[in-house]
Amino acid sequence: MNEVIKLLKSHRSIRKFGDQPIAPEILDELLTAGQAAATSSFIEASTVIRVCNPETRQKLVEYSGGQHYVASAAEFLVFCADLSRAGMCCDMQNVEQEKGFTEHFIIATVDVALMAQNVTIAAESLGLGICYIGGLRNNPQGVSELLDLPDQVYPVFGYCLGYPDQDVDLRPRLPLAVVLKQERYNTKGDQDAITGYDKIVEQYYEKRLGGGKSMTWSKQVAGLAGKEARPHMLPYLQSKGFLKR
Ligand SMILES: Cc1cc2nc3c(=O)[nH]c(=O)nc-3n(C[C@H](O)[C@H](O)[C@H](O)COP(=O)(O)O)c2cc1C
Repeated sequence: MNEVIKLLKSHRSIRKFGDQPIAPEILDELLTAGQAAATSSFIEASTVIRVCNPETRQKLVEYSGGQHYVASAAEFLVFCADLSRAGMCCDMQNVEQEKGFTEHFIIATVDVALMAQNVTIAAESLGLGICYIGGLRNNPQGVSELLDLPDQVYPVFGYCLGYPDQDVDLRPRLPLAVVLKQERYNTKGDQDAITGYDKIVEQYYEKRLGGGKSMTWSKQVAGLAGKEARPHMLPYLQSKGFLKR
């Protein structure tokens, strides 16, 4: 295994950060490494908003359901999918922008995820820690107003970045055989493999949280998949000009 693969396999989300600031040139380096990610049709649909203002941070803690590390991380970034810049290009070229395509929404969202993950790898290679904050989508309207997000821009997730002040165990992952299929989709053997994985995840939680609460992977996923998931997202995204056709 080489050093890059070792680094990738040592990823863990960090939720407690030290006070040490991140030097501006390091932050720039991380973000330009992020920009180097592949981008669908060279559209470069990501916009990142760096939030330093403590009051704005505190509002974002609130909007993300009380996740205090949104305020305490050295840096907090909001990764936005941005098709308004494509609209600007259309204006510059006297072309009418075709808005609202689901395909464009996917393109922009994937672009953001790829850029952020590049930033993550670069950050972790320098000993920094990160935590994605999907919790911002609890209140995307509030975030949009707070950050002046225009039409055709939405916050895909927030992102805590800083020097870790905790040592966290690696979270397990599914056996590769469940995730990697040969030639065609099939679910043969998956239930047994997931039953085995449940035991691993149960042990992981027992060690992390102490005894008492038993949690398995399938129980956790069923808990998520068995209830509504931010039903406000569709009307919110449509109000921003996404997902209309
Ligand atoms: C898009 C996205 C959104 C996430 N949102 C949150 C969040 O709001 N709060 C949080 O504490 N962790 C969040 N996470 C972190 C996941 O919980 C974490 O990656 C997962 O449990 C696996 O743990 P690991 O990153 O330590 O391997 C998010 C991760 C992703 C990829």
